[in-house]
Amino acid sequence: EEIKVIRIEDVPHFVGQTVKIGVWLRQKRGSGKIAFLQLRDGTGFMQGVVVSADVDEALFKLAEHLKQESSFYVTGEIHEDSRSSFGYEMAVSAIDMVGESEGYPITPKEHGTDFLFDQRHLYLRHQKPYATLKIRDEIIRGIYDFFYQDGFLKFDSPILTDSAPEGTTELFPVDYFDQTAYLSQTGQLYVEAGAMAFGKVYDFGPTFRAEKSSTRRHLTEFWMIDAEMAWMHQEQSLDVQERMIAYLIQRVVDNCQTELEMLGRDADKLRSYTKLPFPRVSYDDAVKLLQDNDFDIKWGVDFGSPEETFLANYYKTPFFVVNFPKAIKAFYMKRHPTRDDVVISADLMAPEGYGEIIGGSERDTDYDYLKQRLIDQHLDLKEYDWYLDLRKYGSVPHSGFGLGLERFIRFVAGEDHIRETIPFPRTLNRLHP
Ligand code: 4AD
Ligand code: MG
Repeated sequence: EEIKVIRIEDVPHFVGQTVKIGVWLRQKRGSGKIAFLQLRDGTGFMQGVVVSADVDEALFKLAEHLKQESSFYVTGEIHEDSRSSFGYEMAVSAIDMVGESEGYPITPKEHGTDFLFDQRHLYLRHQKPYATLKIRDEIIRGIYDFFYQDGFLKFDSPILTDSAPEGTTELFPVDYFDQTAYLSQTGQLYVEAGAMAFGKVYDFGPTFRAEKSSTRRHLTEFWMIDAEMAWMHQEQSLDVQERMIAYLIQRVVDNCQTELEMLGRDADKLRSYTKLPFPRVSYDDAVKLLQDNDFDIKWGVDFGSPEETFLANYYKTPFFVVNFPKAIKAFYMKRHPTRDDVVISADLMAPEGYGEIIGGSERDTDYDYLKQRLIDQHLDLKEYDWYLDLRKYGSVPHSGFGLGLERFIRFVAGEDHIRETIPFPRTLNRLHP
């Protein structure tokens, strides 16, 4: 009878049966009598055991000489194994070599982070990137599901643009025939047009910022979700945002137990962040709180990482900072009804010092006001003619927000650095591999 070829994730269904799996060798150890093979196949990790007394000499020799990251089919009977976290292992009875591997660079010893990211194309095979990128996948699918269930239309905004809605200093220019185009910083302006056509829309794609800052939370290429809702004020937008965040965290807690364990991320702690509503603190009150705690911060400046970390430790859950100073926010944010110095905006801050994960606002609806704001911010009116049109033809209240995917993953997975959260990170100092 033909032996069934399966994947490691299906192993629990084959206890007591002999199966065949295509695998790579992560590591091995053993004595002259027994070889323990640490195997992986992309769906999971398991141990194969080769006992010299049970197999012919050639197989045992082969097992003992397998090199790290060589690939082969392994055949054997599946047993329960209460000592391993996976719970199963294979008693190996045959190995069919597929690909040799000589001098694999990422050895079991400790390596520096720079080295690991120089080897990112190989490092992806290891447990930490595996766990983080599985969580990324779960979150991505969760985002599509959330918006679908909530009645949003997926509305893809362009990546090549002629505008700089989030400021002109962080642009990547590209030659575009006889003019200059820029890689998109945010799809927001386009999803605003989409919201006037479809009511509730979102985009989800790569965005680019030529940030010269080399920090634990900045990428030059990152993925953003821009959501935009017509006929919605800021309070309703905050409701959507917190429901989305709680839903995504719950998905990861429910579906990524193994991965959270691999990363040493406490699932109970994550679960505690799904309690709604999230606190809302005004920028004014946040500044007061910081000043009362000996921060040397003046009203009107943006928070830095130390300020955000202090506030995060104070609230111990995700929280919104609302109504930032107008002078440090983008031109499109809605005016406050009674104050001239702040706008109807909100940043969602993650706990534990992971910092801002969402930026959003209600959008101003008035043609003349927005035109003046563009002029004040030295933006080119010609590039925004179509955007201003949205205020000419049936302008309605609308609000939206942008979630930084990698910022959010960094927080959920508990990663030290944002570069861990994307397959091939792009930063100030890295374009290769
Ligand atoms: O706060 P930002 O700049 O907001 C906007 O771009 C709005 N137009 C979004 C909207 O209202 N539709 O960026 C949104 C989010 C930030 O909160 C952060 O999570 C992430 O994008 N982000 C970055 N992530 C990684 N690397 C960077 N350099 C980032 N810059 C922003
Ligand atoms: Mg922001």
